[in-house]
Amino acid sequence: MMIQIAPSILAADFANLATDIQKVEKSGADLLHVDVMDGHFVPNISIGAPVVAAIQKVTKLPLDVHLMIANPGKFLDSFIQAGANIITVHAEADCHLHRLIQQIKSAGVRAGISLNPSTSLTVLEEVLPDIDMVLIMSVNPGFGGQSFIASSLNKITRLKNMIEERHLQVDIEVDGGINSQTAPQVIKAGANILVAGSAVYGAPDISRAIRELRGS
Ligand code: DX5
Ligand code: ZN
Repeated sequence: MMIQIAPSILAADFANLATDIQKVEKSGADLLHVDVMDGHFVPNISIGAPVVAAIQKVTKLPLDVHLMIANPGKFLDSFIQAGANIITVHAEADCHLHRLIQQIKSAGVRAGISLNPSTSLTVLEEVLPDIDMVLIMSVNPGFGGQSFIASSLNKITRLKNMIEERHLQVDIEVDGGINSQTAPQVIKAGANILVAGSAVYGAPDISRAIRELRGS
């Protein structure tokens, strides 16, 4: 499967967002990962739908919106209107995942479900055939620059098996602590979309960093 790299703008300079987005676009990024944090679901606040709407005007990259917020259903429409191409909600944030997935897909947007490191894959059993992507958190969400949690590798492998056993086409995205050391390990485990914040924006040569993460 083709490996896609999704730089996270959480590590960009928010005062120069358009420039920093164009930098990764020119350097071969496949998607743009947008981390939305509300200070409730995670202990940090980042950006909301108005910023997504503004970003959408300055890039052709598909917007991969990761909602780390409580009550995601209440805000789906605003992110759909803002131009999100993929919307990922956390399984822990709502007990009506099926409804949220339908709401996202009926707007023609790709739907993802994210799991915190402590959340079991079993919550995916009933919804796996309905979704386009699973986002495995390999750090506890809330901050960039944290270290990769090694047990995520086994979780990715088990998820990959679940998807293959059912003959489904579901992307596996991994987020948190991805760098040139951990990237080959998550790819080997079965991930095909890699989010990277600090490993991309902290690199002296962004094109090279993206190539290294992709393994090509
Ligand atoms: C963490 C966010 C991540 C974060 C990744 O809560 O969901 O997307 O920006 O940052 P790095 O790649 O620095 O771990
Ligand atoms: Zn994220």
